[in-house]
Amino acid sequence: MSDTNIKKHHFKVTRKERQQLNGHNSFLIWVTGLSGSGKSTIANGLEEHLHQQGIRTYVLDGDNIRHGINQNLTFSPEDRSENIRRIGEISKLFIDAGCVVIGAFISPYQKDRQEVKRMVGSSNFVEVFVNTSLEECERRDVKGLYKKARSGEIPNFTGINAPYEVPENADIEIKTESEGIEDAIAKIANHIKKKLTIN
Ligand code: PPS
Repeated sequence: MSDTNIKKHHFKVTRKERQQLNGHNSFLIWVTGLSGSGKSTIANGLEEHLHQQGIRTYVLDGDNIRHGINQNLTFSPEDRSENIRRIGEISKLFIDAGCVVIGAFISPYQKDRQEVKRMVGSSNFVEVFVNTSLEECERRDVKGLYKKARSGEIPNFTGINAPYEVPENADIEIKTESEGIEDAIAKIANHIKKKLTIN
């Protein structure tokens, strides 16, 4: 809801000035894939890599966000969309603050991922598809959630009884069944190298 009685303030320090202070651009790296595909591992490794190079980063991760600001949301299609919409807004704030944001969410719907891209601006959005097959995610079953979903304990579990729409035009695809974590990080770091540089 937008209220005509609420007017935006414009503060003196701009995003550009924050970026200049940091020495790099700010944008969003969006990591999508099935539960257990390796999103958090990649986000974690990528953040460490960038941090070591003096880049200001912040990771937004599904499990963590759902323990805090989004703890009132379920895994229904509507709530997943609201989850992703709020994360898009949070990402916008971090980008404005001058950070490189790494978002790791299943984000199963193409339209929701597209909406985040629109919200932050397409030039500030890098989509990474962690393409691990359902069979492999289920074989790993790190959190035991696939077993529970198969036995009917978890409704709407992505890949089992809820959809995952494969990204059509991801900027980067990681195949964790054939690529190691170091290769994946190098691939993303290489892709964003130019984007980090302030013109
Ligand atoms: S979504 O679809 O983008 O809103 O999901 P996200 O916020 O990324 O949260 C995914 C984590 O929630 C746990 N979990 C479930 N995932 C999928 N479906 C159902 N029904 C579900 N219930 C709980 C699970 O640990 C996910 O974490 P990851 O890291 O993806 O395995």
